[in-house]
Amino acid sequence: MAASPFVHGVPLPGRVLTRHRSAWSEHRVPARLITIEGIDGAGKTTLAAGLLEALLGRGIEAVALREPGGVALAERIRSLVKDPELEIADRAEALLYAASRAQLVAERVEPELAAGRWVLLDRYVDSSLAYQGAGRALGVDAVAAINHFATGGLAADRTLLLAIEPAAGRARRGVRGEDADRLEREADEFFARIAAGYRALAAAEPGRVRVLDAARTPDEVLEAALAELADLLG
Ligand code: TYD
Repeated sequence: MAASPFVHGVPLPGRVLTRHRSAWSEHRVPARLITIEGIDGAGKTTLAAGLLEALLGRGIEAVALREPGGVALAERIRSLVKDPELEIADRAEALLYAASRAQLVAERVEPELAAGRWVLLDRYVDSSLAYQGAGRALGVDAVAAINHFATGGLAADRTLLLAIEPAAGRARRGVRGEDADRLEREADEFFARIAAGYRALAAAEPGRVRVLDAARTPDEVLEAALAELADLLG
């Protein structure tokens, strides 16, 4: 049985999330891979849910998935990388995220795109470039290389980067102390490096990576996101 996409952390059967284009529709919009990025607490999951509704409302078949996760192997890796009890070396962490991504691409993303469905991904390669490349200081090029291997070179058609100050993201999430997972327990400098890493990625690829002000209301962020996708929506 196919694993389920997730919205708000709740597994939803894929079929609920897809809607067939009406039979009389003459122009099919090509399936796209859209990724949503940003530090913890930026509002990615809320935006993913809003975008999914907006696409389905336009008669575009789409699924929403999250990383790490989305398929059984990746969900197991997710519980490993989040476990505060585990010691995980930086390079091992980068490889675990890449392994999770490789399975998700092979098992869900490529088949969905091949079937003509848009894929909305809550985190993708840029998360590893920012968190492991910049945050863990493994180097963006080294992390990009293992991810190129993991994904077979599958790149996002567009990336929506939710920009928010690390302190604001942390406050919004309201995580502290024992409730925090392994990454959330990191120091502020770690998140500052990640935010800087994301800014550098956006500056290097302004055509693909579009920066949205995540301090605005969810409706405003969704509206801005749709504007950044307008040329792809046909
Ligand atoms: P999650 O609870 O999904 O956080 P969020 O809601 O902010 O996406 O946990 C995912 C954590 O894994 C998050 O702290 C970011 C981190 N991560 C990486 O460090 N590298 C990666 O490649 C990915 C996909 C996530």
